Amino acid sequence: MIGKKIEDALNDQMNFEMFSANIYLAMAAQFDAMNLTGLANWMKVQYQEEIFHMMKFYDFLNERGGRAVFNALDAPPTEWDSPLAAFEHALKHERIVTGRINDLVTLAADEKDHATANFLQWFVAEQVEEESNVDAVIQQLKLSSGAPGALFMLDRELGQRVFTPPAQGDAQ
Ligand code: FEO
Repeated sequence: MIGKKIEDALNDQMNFEMFSANIYLAMAAQFDAMNLTGLANWMKVQYQEEIFHMMKFYDFLNERGGRAVFNALDAPPTEWDSPLAAFEHALKHERIVTGRINDLVTLAADEKDHATANFLQWFVAEQVEEESNVDAVIQQLKLSSGAPGALFMLDRELGQRVFTPPAQGDAQ
């Protein structure tokens, strides 16, 4: 049985993952409106990643005898000044997620909840990937700045990204 403090904290993160999904889908909507369908695709895959993260918290809460509770979420922004501004926002957001996961690991240790601490290790590894993936696109966008042909090529490349659900225990 899960402790109330951990149950509330995991629910809070489950809702934050849903909020993250909404931010990336809003970014996809702007890219689609700009006909940058590859960048939009990249963000739609990111949206699916976040839904996957959210469901991991949902499933874990149920497995531990807790209850997933959904809250009202802040609306995501609707406009970013440029593709680079959107991806820089995404990186800033992922760093916030990493901080939140780290705080959860600390809480699980303080509460001596080893099952939750073990569950969270998947997210610790996943956040390294999440930050690195976004940062890679930021670097590519910076290199393509002022060269519309380069942005076109990058858009085509990002259009290849597909969502593959990670194997159990395998962060990607
Ligand atoms: Fe669920 Fe991108 O962190």
